[in-house]
Amino acid sequence: MNKQLTLFEDETKETTNHTAKSYTGIYAMHKYWSKKPYNIIREFILRYTEKGEIVLDPFCGSGISVTESIFTERKAIGVDINPSAIFITKQMINKVPIKLIQKEFSKLESEVKDVINSFYIVKRIDKKFIGTHFIWENGKLTEVWYKNDVKSRTKIIERPTQNDLELALSFSYNKIPYYYPKDRFFHNSRINANRENHIYELFTPRNLMALSLLMDRIEKIENKDIKEFFKFCFTASVGQASRMVFVVKRRGKFNSKSRKTERKEVGSWVIGYWVPKENFEINVRNCFENRYRKILKAKRELEYKKYSINEATNFEELLELKNLLLITEPAQKALKEIPDNSIDYVITDPPHGNRQPYLELSMMWNSWLKKDVNYDDEIVISESKDRKKDIHNYYKLLNEVLDEIERILKPNRYFSLMFNSLDNETWINLLIHTSSLKFDLEKVETLEYSANSVVQDTRRAGLKTDFILTFRKNLNKTIKDIELISVKKNKDYIINVIENYLKNSIEKSLETYQILNLLISELLPQNKFFSLSEILNLLEMDFDKEGSKWTRRGI
Ligand SMILES: C[S@@+](CC[C@H](N)C(=O)[O-])C[C@H]1O[C@@H](n2cnc3c(N)ncnc32)[C@H](O)[C@@H]1O
Repeated sequence: MNKQLTLFEDETKETTNHTAKSYTGIYAMHKYWSKKPYNIIREFILRYTEKGEIVLDPFCGSGISVTESIFTERKAIGVDINPSAIFITKQMINKVPIKLIQKEFSKLESEVKDVINSFYIVKRIDKKFIGTHFIWENGKLTEVWYKNDVKSRTKIIERPTQNDLELALSFSYNKIPYYYPKDRFFHNSRINANRENHIYELFTPRNLMALSLLMDRIEKIENKDIKEFFKFCFTASVGQASRMVFVVKRRGKFNSKSRKTERKEVGSWVIGYWVPKENFEINVRNCFENRYRKILKAKRELEYKKYSINEATNFEELLELKNLLLITEPAQKALKEIPDNSIDYVITDPPHGNRQPYLELSMMWNSWLKKDVNYDDEIVISESKDRKKDIHNYYKLLNEVLDEIERILKPNRYFSLMFNSLDNETWINLLIHTSSLKFDLEKVETLEYSANSVVQDTRRAGLKTDFILTFRKNLNKTIKDIELISVKKNKDYIINVIENYLKNSIEKSLETYQILNLLISELLPQNKFFSLSEILNLLEMDFDKEGSKWTRRGI
């Protein structure tokens, strides 16, 4: 049989069922969507490269592949069209001068803390407290939270007084003297963005005033690295300072008299621009300080890691003594600057069709950071009619990047690509397009998410898996057209292949990735492939699942 595929991990003794570790430390400093698990990315980098070799991620997002390449002494190239993504990536890996940062924070606090806190003053008889949280319902202030003493753990919850109302309403958008984002959204109901609305409306006028004052002060920091660090703390906390923070209601016996009460808890901004009817307005200074402390703690952990960063400004420099190249550009353009046969390994998690319109989702960060954004070249299917980003444009641009990857990867080296299990169309496009290139599909592996990862969709439990496809560049490959077969029509044949394998093997059940590998090894040499979702449906219909393994139903 054509041994184009390395099958069955029992033979290769490599682990294939990857379980993600949870995001802590530097990996939890800043939100990004579809963050990939660092331990798995690291495993792949170690498997396919040696120290000093070049790893490229053309869609690097929050930069996990970049950090793991640097931590394992490889050279890293991270490309992303999203300025916020490259900004986050750089902050993930940068070591910062902790003492100087602390000094700057004290200075910043001494200048803005009292002013910002004065926006949240809660006057009670002859005393003044600092409000920590305010609940708004349908545009009306309904609850005020404060503490007797800043260090106290117990919060006081009250209905707002006339004073509280007057203070909150004394702020207005058009009286803010500092910079704040004035862009309008692209219309996209999928992410609750309405073209009538501006980004600043995600914040109450009071919080917008506090944020713009804080950003104005950060902009005045002279040392560029320290300024960038504080901007990072700002964007990492700005979502929590928005009206998108919803109220979580918990029922139960919460007071000493065992009366049933309802307790309101603070939710968190997750994705998109949904402003709930009942939402929080959280003291901006508290949001910022909490995030600053978390980020500083994570950065301290980096101090003990043995690595250094030598950032290159172009590929030639990277080849010399440098080890990091970050590019804020569309991959279909950036990769053109890289010479043929020069990259040792490519690992990437490309944009997944219409799942997450990254540039639209990052508008809030990019506009606070005053970044120019190239929406035209984004690889995405956006439901926004304002953008003309349909499936054809998505495949055209994605395929251009795949072509470039084939060109710049060294012969016989590997390219690992992650994608979503239910993204059937992407799978079909990928297989058709990569089979027209000098790539052999070597392996299909699964990626299991840890419990705390946010996989933002509603996949059925059995399918809650992403795939990692690994290709090898094979210059001797004979390119043939491949045919998509109907699983329904070929059901008996497919079941037969699986049953035959089970009959001749000591195993009595198989993991999803094993079944996929088996079918690929059987069909691709005949220039045939199948729809992923149809196979998954067939497994659900004709097989039983125990744990993560499938057995033939009724046997
Ligand atoms: C699935 S995400 C990558 C997430 C990443 N794996 C992580 O762990 O954070 C895909 C990325 O592709 C980026 N992207 C979309 N179009 C692009 C293009 N034309 N060139 C480069 N990056 C692009 C998006 O901004 C997004 O960050």
